[in-house]
Amino acid sequence: MIYVDEINKRRTFAIISHPDAGKTTLTEKLLLFGGAIQTAGAVKSNKIKKSTASDFMEIERQRGISVATSVMNFEYNEMKINLLDTPGHKDFAEDVYRTLTAVDSVIIVVDCVKGVEEQTEKLMEVCRMRKTPVIVFINKLDREGKRPFDLLDEIEAKLRIKVRPLSWPISMGSSFKGVYNLYDKSLYLFRPGGATIAEDVLAVSNLEDSLLDGQLGEDAAQLREDVALIEGVYEPFERKSYLEADLAPVFFGSAVNNFGVKELLDTFTAIAPTPRSRIADARAVHPHEESFSGFVFKIHANIDPRHRDRIAFLRICSGKFERNKFFHHVRLGKDLRFRSPASFLAQEKSIIEEAYPGDVIGLYDTGNFKIGDTLTEGEKIMFQGIPSFSPEVFKEVINTDPMRSKQLEKGLEQLTDEGVAQLFTQQQGKKRIIGTVGELQFDVIQYRLLHEYGASCRFNPLIYNKACWITAKDKKKLEEFCKYRSDRLGSDKDGNLVYFSESDWALKRVREDYPEVEFHFSSEISTGTPGLKYSGD
Ligand code: G4P
Repeated sequence: MIYVDEINKRRTFAIISHPDAGKTTLTEKLLLFGGAIQTAGAVKSNKIKKSTASDFMEIERQRGISVATSVMNFEYNEMKINLLDTPGHKDFAEDVYRTLTAVDSVIIVVDCVKGVEEQTEKLMEVCRMRKTPVIVFINKLDREGKRPFDLLDEIEAKLRIKVRPLSWPISMGSSFKGVYNLYDKSLYLFRPGGATIAEDVLAVSNLEDSLLDGQLGEDAAQLREDVALIEGVYEPFERKSYLEADLAPVFFGSAVNNFGVKELLDTFTAIAPTPRSRIADARAVHPHEESFSGFVFKIHANIDPRHRDRIAFLRICSGKFERNKFFHHVRLGKDLRFRSPASFLAQEKSIIEEAYPGDVIGLYDTGNFKIGDTLTEGEKIMFQGIPSFSPEVFKEVINTDPMRSKQLEKGLEQLTDEGVAQLFTQQQGKKRIIGTVGELQFDVIQYRLLHEYGASCRFNPLIYNKACWITAKDKKKLEEFCKYRSDRLGSDKDGNLVYFSESDWALKRVREDYPEVEFHFSSEISTGTPGLKYSGD
């Protein structure tokens, strides 16, 4: 075991939510507690209010190519906390999925008025796939929301995880009085607009304490009743179940009022996991291994057209990263060294000399990296769990400036390496197809192709709504299927065979007609059955 102290003090996590639940607000309050920022308002929301490419580009520019807020690190309770930012717009969901591969735990923010929303459910699916421990923060208790017990039931049903409240609200909306902390048995009184101060925290030795009646009046009886119900219905909190992603502790608060945030952060630092092992194709990689390894989960382009460089974000999985040391780029089979690897402290980025498991560093890149790439000290492993998910919107790329087709091709390759969208080639006719999760990406791609590559194109809408990666245990059956369905076949960038479907109903029919063929909704095919590589004709 090596670098034990460095590894054990790291906590790497992301905050996820449906847009508007309060993710940006909570992030900002956590950074204030961590001393990473001094004033509220310093964290720019990365929400794209108007869904246009120019709006998106403007936001990117304002954010100083986004890097400063892509990963924020701060120290708290002698721990080094790495908070990874995730885009708020639903069209960028895939970016969020990939970021989730680089964290060890997440905090999910739920709006108490709206309950569990669609985007949160989708993100939770990814957490479940990866067995990522989650803490739930129910926000906006200063508003009249759903009943707390109903919210817990909704979380269990929609997010499909057992819950265990660790704090409990006393009333809500205009009569919100505070929360009772079930973990340390104390009462936190609500003070709108500011953080809880010492006088607002009352130790309550037992719930019959008359102090409660004095502070809460009639609500004291309700609290006693609620707590009795909680203790009767929910099992005591067990950290092990949380770490195994079987149980989500739940907190209540109001991020904008800075209420319940410190308690959340204190509990987070007490229970959240240290850097966890990561699965590579050949074996599991443990953070305490001496030999360095890490993977790229995000690539950010420099929006300034004069500098075509990009920043690849690398999550360190094991060993120690050192500046100017040669590391092995497994996919390219070549050794690279990095003169100015960057870490990000609050709004500043600075050159680092070394980094440890759990850390995320930015590497300047001139085109060597694509998402999922692995760096090691020589071992030929590739980390898994950075899948592409089936896009939902598909369009054919039509080159509108034949003199610049090379530039268009290069732009498409590079932008899709960054994960902006997925690129497919249709078998018949060699059409280039872009697949995304939302319309906004097409505007962004068109804009960037023009401004960064000088290439122009337009998009031809296609009727498809899903691309499935297909495999079959019996190769003959797969070949047979391909023969009959060649009009619907294509390949992804790695040459994996993909089937395009125009509706859920049609897909169901095809699956019934060809039961031997397996249809996968993400590119990471776990069955281990061989697929066919698209041969190109
Ligand atoms: P997001 O990143 O999850 O999309 O949400 P964000 O933090 O931007 O919050 C969305 C809106 O909810 C913001 O209001 C924010 O002020 C508000 N909000 C966050 N926490 C609370 C809370 O505890 N109580 C109440 N009542 N509101 C909260 P906005 O009007 O969209 O923006 P702004 O003009 O206030 O910044």
